[in-house]
Amino acid sequence: MKLNTVITKNIDNAVSEILSASPVALPTETVYGLAADALDPDAVLKVYEIKSRPTFNPLIVHVYDIPDIEKYAVDISDDAYKLLEKFTPGPLTLILKKHWLIPDIVTSGLENVALRIPRHSMFRDVIKISGKPLAAPSANRFGRISPTSAEDVLKELDGRIRFILDGGKCTVGIESTVISLTAGDVRIFRPGFITREEIESLLSKRVKIDLESSEKPFGVSYESPGMLKSHYAPVTPLFVADDIEYFLGNVSPAFGVIDLSVYEDVKKAALNLFKMIREEDEKGKEFIVISKVTDSGIGIAVNDRIDKASSGTVSAVNGKIVFNRK
Ligand code: TXA
Ligand code: MG
Repeated sequence: MKLNTVITKNIDNAVSEILSASPVALPTETVYGLAADALDPDAVLKVYEIKSRPTFNPLIVHVYDIPDIEKYAVDISDDAYKLLEKFTPGPLTLILKKHWLIPDIVTSGLENVALRIPRHSMFRDVIKISGKPLAAPSANRFGRISPTSAEDVLKELDGRIRFILDGGKCTVGIESTVISLTAGDVRIFRPGFITREEIESLLSKRVKIDLESSEKPFGVSYESPGMLKSHYAPVTPLFVADDIEYFLGNVSPAFGVIDLSVYEDVKKAALNLFKMIREEDEKGKEFIVISKVTDSGIGIAVNDRIDKASSGTVSAVNGKIVFNRK
């Protein structure tokens, strides 16, 4: 059934939708999420269906504060508390051992749950007023780039949900840093705005960025291995160029160019990354060329998203454009 999707600033619309077991799109500081009552398996199943997301890819549960984390996770380590106190509410997700209250469908049957305390006041209001923990993946169709405005969500999910709560443009622009704290050590499964350097200096220990694990199904066997190799992909193929200057100097109607070096700092590049890919994608060119940023700090997260969105690399050899597909 096709629904009439409305962009609204009315928090009560979002709360009543959640309480009637229907997913609703909500703003967070990172990207927009598609939220449902995490304690209601039927509502959570609808999130997977609306996104066309396979149920073996677990969801993040968004809660209000640290006492909520203590309700839905067990065996919370000192490192976890340090991270929570320093970085939340904010763009951080912790993988912790789950409490039995969290239904299996939220975690794809895993013993661990991803928990996050978001900072956006509208999202926080919806948690507070509904009294529910909210399972919320990014509000895009499966495999597409995350939306960073209410209008982006409309393009992704028009007709599939009733309400998009409009909280303006996201202020971070890329998804939260996902940190695993269950194996005794601390590992970053998904780099984000909160960097490895910040985490290492807070915890006074080495932290590994484990992109392999973030790509994998966390112990669940994929029906189709390799299916999740590409995330966040635009429709127009995106190629990474080492020599972006060549493409900037040889503009052509065939391709669009995203030059991240125009931003004075990497935070701004992160903030604009998905928006720029989406804008270029909508122009319907044959391909898009993008350059990476310096691979440190938040740049690691930006380059991770570029890798996942791209179809390969492109270079100009003697004036001829050569693609190297993944
Ligand atoms: O910033 C964000 O994190 C946004 C906003 C909406 O909060 N959410 C988001 O959700 O990016 P999603 O579903 O697009 O990405 C969740 C990531 C995935 O890489 C997923 O595999 C991982 O978190 N994840 C979720 N539950 C997990 C679990 N129990 N164990 C390991 N990884 C988990
Ligand atoms: Mg996502």
